[in-house]
Amino acid sequence: MMVKKITGLFLCVVVFCCRAWCQDLDSAWLFAYTKVQNEGRGGLHFAWSNDGQGWHAIGPEFGFVKSDYGRWGSEKRMIAPVLFAGADGAWQCVWNLGGKNSPVAYTGSPDLVHWITQSYYLNEQELKPALAQQVAAARSQRQEAVVLGVPETGSRVKVPWSLVDGLIKKEQLTRYRNQLWGETTREDALRFASLKPVSVSIRPDRSRSKKIGDLLVGAFFEDINYAADGGLYAELIQNRDFEYHPSDREYRDQSWNHQKAWTASGAGTVLTIDSTAPIHPNNNHYAVLRTGGSGGALSNEGFDGIAVKAGERYDLSLFVRSLTGRGVKLTARLMDKDGAVIASAVVSGPATAWRKQTAVLTAAKTVADARLELALPPGATVALDMISLFPRKTFKGRKNGLREDLAQSIADLHPRFIRFPGGCVAHGDGIENIYNWKNTIGPLEARKPQRNLWGYHQSMGLGYFEYFRFCEDIGAQPVPVVAAGVPCQNSGLHGHPLGGQQCGIPLKDMDSYIQDVLDLVEWANGDVHTKWGKARAAAGHPEPFHLKYIGIGNEDLISDVFAERFTMIYNAVKKKYPEITVIGTVGPFFEGTDYEQGWKLATELRVPVVDEHYYVAPGWFIYNQDFYDKYDRSKSKVYLGEYAAHLPGRPNNLETALAEAIHLTTLERNGDVVQMASYAPLLAKEGHTQWSPDLIYFNNSTVKPTTGYYVQQLFGRHAGDVYIPATALYSDNNEKVRNRVAWSLVQDTKSGDLVLKLVNLLPVSVSVTTDLAGFRLAQRVQKTVLQGNPADRALVPVEATVSLKEAEKMTLEPYSFTVVRVKQQ
Ligand code: AHR
Repeated sequence: MMVKKITGLFLCVVVFCCRAWCQDLDSAWLFAYTKVQNEGRGGLHFAWSNDGQGWHAIGPEFGFVKSDYGRWGSEKRMIAPVLFAGADGAWQCVWNLGGKNSPVAYTGSPDLVHWITQSYYLNEQELKPALAQQVAAARSQRQEAVVLGVPETGSRVKVPWSLVDGLIKKEQLTRYRNQLWGETTREDALRFASLKPVSVSIRPDRSRSKKIGDLLVGAFFEDINYAADGGLYAELIQNRDFEYHPSDREYRDQSWNHQKAWTASGAGTVLTIDSTAPIHPNNNHYAVLRTGGSGGALSNEGFDGIAVKAGERYDLSLFVRSLTGRGVKLTARLMDKDGAVIASAVVSGPATAWRKQTAVLTAAKTVADARLELALPPGATVALDMISLFPRKTFKGRKNGLREDLAQSIADLHPRFIRFPGGCVAHGDGIENIYNWKNTIGPLEARKPQRNLWGYHQSMGLGYFEYFRFCEDIGAQPVPVVAAGVPCQNSGLHGHPLGGQQCGIPLKDMDSYIQDVLDLVEWANGDVHTKWGKARAAAGHPEPFHLKYIGIGNEDLISDVFAERFTMIYNAVKKKYPEITVIGTVGPFFEGTDYEQGWKLATELRVPVVDEHYYVAPGWFIYNQDFYDKYDRSKSKVYLGEYAAHLPGRPNNLETALAEAIHLTTLERNGDVVQMASYAPLLAKEGHTQWSPDLIYFNNSTVKPTTGYYVQQLFGRHAGDVYIPATALYSDNNEKVRNRVAWSLVQDTKSGDLVLKLVNLLPVSVSVTTDLAGFRLAQRVQKTVLQGNPADRALVPVEATVSLKEAEKMTLEPYSFTVVRVKQQ
């Protein structure tokens, strides 16, 4: 609210200044251009002039609309744009996406501030003839103007002054907002140099209590940063299926191939890759190892080595076929880096068809970086595939299960739901990369691995079955997200005539795609007599998984192509499974074209819940505490599917964690609108991180929860289903102070417990008095505090028991998060 007031005041000043400054102008020249030097990556800039000679940059060089075509970052170019008014007076903008004759993009705007969804065409001839004509005319009129001393080429148009005024205000407001949102604790010493300790008095008003959702805090799982293979999925062998391919890394790394992570050793030993008689067509490459003399072996380095623990058992399995006409014996060994044998077992290789063989290896010592070796006698030739090694100890002892410590760290978050498989992995890099759940179930050797768009390989060993089973094991709702018939709008060069971008599954194939989505619900919930219920039962789970939610789309560009396909899938799911709550999508940001268009579509279709995403600076959370207070309660509910506070350098530290805690208190307050929220991403393996910050870092032997992890955990552990509003009086009403102290009061009706959460993002202590007189409460109170320096990355909360009296009058340490849980009497 305070932000609104300050912003309002600021705007008044700006408006007053503008009026005084330009009172005689009623029209002006506007010049629209992009920078040649950066190929328009900064977007469309404007400059204005009252005589067409001297130009005033707006910004300078503020990007009013940016090309959204191609990959994040460098591919999003806006070359040689033209701007002109269409027949209806609305502004039209067309630009090239590459060099001459490259594809073109089109967008429009009523005021040059708000822009409609962009569309892309192979070339200008593909534009509607009338538009193409206007573009040609506008192109011929592109001219030069000197802006900020640099000659630029662009479109020059005469416009009413009010339009220029709107652009100037937009830029000024954005600059002001960025300044606020860019505040970090680094300037706190200066910002709060004279700040005295603050006091807050909180008076709950039970008469205004409201029901809130009980699924608020969940987890977002995506196979990014080696979260699955080499991470949560307990498989210890890398490239077990010999399906790695240079295309996984877009041919940037030739060592990333079918032999990745494997080494043949011994005189005359040769390793080749074959595909003539695979175990299964979905997994059609396998290794052929031919030994010469003695000492021939094939070894696997694991994912950064294989971590084993003394005394623990490891299940080895492999598909093998001797190609010499004679059976053969293989010796499987775990070796440390000095070549000492840690475990060994013998497996036979029959001279017939493929056979799956198993053995158990018991580690004699603890080693962080062992390797697996398969040794063969001289003169042997064997075909090998699906060479797998699993710790016997997986999470809950599941076969083909999850790494125990990592899975436990997720379970310890107490997530009420788990989203899967992403993120961008859900909608994929091009149509052929869209995640297909059917490829991820059934026998491992029949699953279809695929390129992971984060630049590696997905074995699909952690597929839909393992995901649903994990949800069940930890009491979380599954929230699968399927593509809305379109791949990621940041796709690269995959499967589209324009060389990437969003595109869509051809309409003739949509029925089959929609059937796949419906089949997913049947697989999860159908009884064992249905086709897909039977498949689930065959995998060992006759009981339904009780799926209640399904997400359609992931922060997609809300184009016509998207809207058409989303609507088809949405209607089909609603018709066949009215009991399933569909979650729509409203783009990757908290504002802008996709957010607006996504909400418009969701409102028209009455989509029950929409998925919002935003990665923003801590200051955004500080100054947007009323974000959801403003939401219309009669519209779709919100699932905040991806969010995190991002600081320069992208750490996950106390500062980001407290900003997220502030936001979570506002989500609790708006729990009648925001039903679910998941921090993203969840997991990141050290040395294989494509995205920071993440919630849990790990290597092969250690799990390293971040400071932000504990904020999520405390909200997960201490959730409530009733929100109790309160009035809070602050000793200091300066918005910079007030907005850094946040609180929420909830009740868990099952236990009856009352939970007060308090965030202090100030460098001074805050004394809080809470009037709990209206409650009949126990005298002993559980108090948990996370406190430290803003830059601390590995803080752990400290728990204590205090008296009710102490809880009613508490001092919040500088930079701290406090949770007080008290039982009712
Ligand atoms: O969380 C990482 C990525 O961020 C997700 O894959 C994508 O949805 C978002 O852009």
